[in-house]
Amino acid sequence: MTTPVFLISNKKSSSSTSIYNSNPLLKPHKYKLFLLIFSMASSLFFLYFLLLFSLSSLSPSSSSSSFQYQYQKHRQSFNSGENEPPIAAIRQACRATRFPDTCQSMLAQSGRDPNPVGIIQTALKVSAQNLKMGQSMVQKILDDSAHNPNRSRAAKTCLEVLANSDVRTSAAEGALSRGKLRDARAWASAALCYQYDCWSGLKYVNDSAEVNSTMSYFDTVLIASTSNALSMLRALDALGPNPASWAPPRTERDGFWEPIVAGSGLGSLKFGSLANYFKEADATVCKGGGCAYGKVQDAVDKAPENLEGEKKYVIRIKEGVYDEIVRVPFNKRNLVFLGDGIGKTVITGSLSTGINGITTYNTATVGVLGDGFMASGLTIQNTAGPDAHQAVAFRSDSDFSYIENCEFLGNQDTVYVHALRQFFKSCRIEGNVDFIFGNAAAIFQDCTILVRPRQLKPASGETNAISAHGRTDPAQTTGFAFLGCHINGTEEYMKLYHSKPSKHKNYLGRPWKMYSRTVYINCTMEALINPNGWLPWTGDFALSTLYYGEFGNSGLGADLSKRVPWSRLIPAEHIPTYYVQNFLQGDEWITTASS
Ligand SMILES: *[C@@H]1O[C@H](CO)[C@@H](O)[C@H](O)[C@H]1NC(C)=O
Ligand SMILES: *[C@@H]1O[C@H](CO)[C@@H](O)[C@H](O)[C@H]1NC(C)=O
Ligand SMILES: *[C@@H]1O[C@H](CO)[C@@H](O)[C@H](O)[C@H]1NC(C)=O
Ligand SMILES: *[C@@H]1O[C@H](CO)[C@@H](O)[C@H](O)[C@H]1NC(C)=O
Ligand SMILES: *[C@@H]1O[C@H](CO)[C@@H](O)[C@H](O)[C@H]1NC(C)=O
Repeated sequence: MTTPVFLISNKKSSSSTSIYNSNPLLKPHKYKLFLLIFSMASSLFFLYFLLLFSLSSLSPSSSSSSFQYQYQKHRQSFNSGENEPPIAAIRQACRATRFPDTCQSMLAQSGRDPNPVGIIQTALKVSAQNLKMGQSMVQKILDDSAHNPNRSRAAKTCLEVLANSDVRTSAAEGALSRGKLRDARAWASAALCYQYDCWSGLKYVNDSAEVNSTMSYFDTVLIASTSNALSMLRALDALGPNPASWAPPRTERDGFWEPIVAGSGLGSLKFGSLANYFKEADATVCKGGGCAYGKVQDAVDKAPENLEGEKKYVIRIKEGVYDEIVRVPFNKRNLVFLGDGIGKTVITGSLSTGINGITTYNTATVGVLGDGFMASGLTIQNTAGPDAHQAVAFRSDSDFSYIENCEFLGNQDTVYVHALRQFFKSCRIEGNVDFIFGNAAAIFQDCTILVRPRQLKPASGETNAISAHGRTDPAQTTGFAFLGCHINGTEEYMKLYHSKPSKHKNYLGRPWKMYSRTVYINCTMEALINPNGWLPWTGDFALSTLYYGEFGNSGLGADLSKRVPWSRLIPAEHIPTYYVQNFLQGDEWITTASS
């Protein structure tokens, strides 16, 4: 076989694991330099904070007491000008992190607050300050790249994801002060995901000292500070309020299971049909005139911004093929796409990374940023031609997202569940290479997952992974859970498969990033799943840090006797960890979708 087993191009070359994943994130000499830069930057930010505070104290709404408290602490250490050694409480809290030295030096200036919540608040503020610095560095790259389209494209995508990071970091702070630790963790996990994405996108345009130093800043300062805040949030939630009991993040792979906090069983949440639940549409889209909009995007553009709470805006998309690229921006919250059914209402596109250096992120036919997105009765597809590599049909960064009875069609990278909490119910997903991927916490319940033939030389055989989860930090709350799904191939694929089973290899997943987490529970796996079950990414990368678990599956592909030694049988008592209540806090938000 002369063709490479995997069609990997820019997004996922094996070199993508280099700096961030090669363990000692902080090389001592590099670190000193950045500490210097950091302390210069943070002094600037204290001035900025002083200014901000004196302005914001004029408006009654913005002077939250915790901010004032933090501010007082900042001012004390700023005014005293002393370089206080980290007090015991900070040192102890920093033991919950992966980078305790960075943690201590970054928090040293925060004063003497012995309260763990106060320490984490400060850690989140430090991360937010570092992010501002990171944003200005990337803006500078963009300004200097007018004649370099690849670099300016990368910088633009970077700025977009960093804006998301910014919003999620402040949301995490807000959630922490309200005691909503699960939300705080989910949002801090996303903030970190976006920072990593930016770093990772810059890697392909690292052709100047400016890009190189920006990447180093992300690596050793920004990402480390966010990881530290996230780890402490995790410790507070999973280990309790006494920092004496805190330790660095561990995962199921280390034998650590979080307490099961909510409900259990699959049956305690009811899922209804969205079509029955939302009887009236706020806007209607159809082909050939007769309704308000002819394009889905036009209806999205006219939808109200920032809908609050349970208020939804329902866009009814009538039967027809909509050949367009759809973007739901961050401020369009709570949109509902209601189609006439799978195969009837079809949104279709064909962007791919084969075109003009476009990034995987931007290839999506439908891309959603706004929270609370819902959809039902649609097909969303990417029809990029053979050898197109990454070509996403659906990308979502929508927190509290609920999708049911939808179909996603593509080849490589069909569904990009990028970040945050997403629930897919009774969906149909087709693809071949890594076709469900990203760093979200996503549940696929009662879905049909179908491998389809590769577009190039399908008969010559191939190796496919259904999923490629991309968790980069063990404290991130992300992972994929497939519950009650049916894993099969399309009719066309199964013909190929049966003609030569040894040539057509399919796996449940492979580790895109170091702490990849994926479980299959109560699924039916047809014979096409290789007895080894799971596939390495490259060499032994991530094999000792990932968590791949199975429980209660059936079918010819579900036999555990020949599974790779780095996958696990999930202990029965921990199965509810992956149910919607615990994994996505679904009991707090999915009820709005059930009838
Ligand atoms: C890249 O940045 C690192 C850290 O600042 C520095 O040590 C290295 O010399 C830089 N490399 C280039 C080629 O500029
Ligand atoms: C950027 O590229 C330079 C030159 O090839 C290399 O030395 C450096 O390690 C790269 N920087 C990062 C942060 O990957
Ligand atoms: C820009 O990216 C494209 C596609 O990835 C590549 O073919 C081209 O060589 C790049 N251009 C430069 C100047 O690096
Ligand atoms: C297992 O999956 C079947 C089919 O989707 C479903 O009816 C059943 O409730 C599930 N049982 C458990 C324990 O998950
Ligand atoms: C799996 O797919 C094949 C080919 O489409 C089909 O014949 C078979 O019935 C499917 N299996 C189940 C259990 O649906």
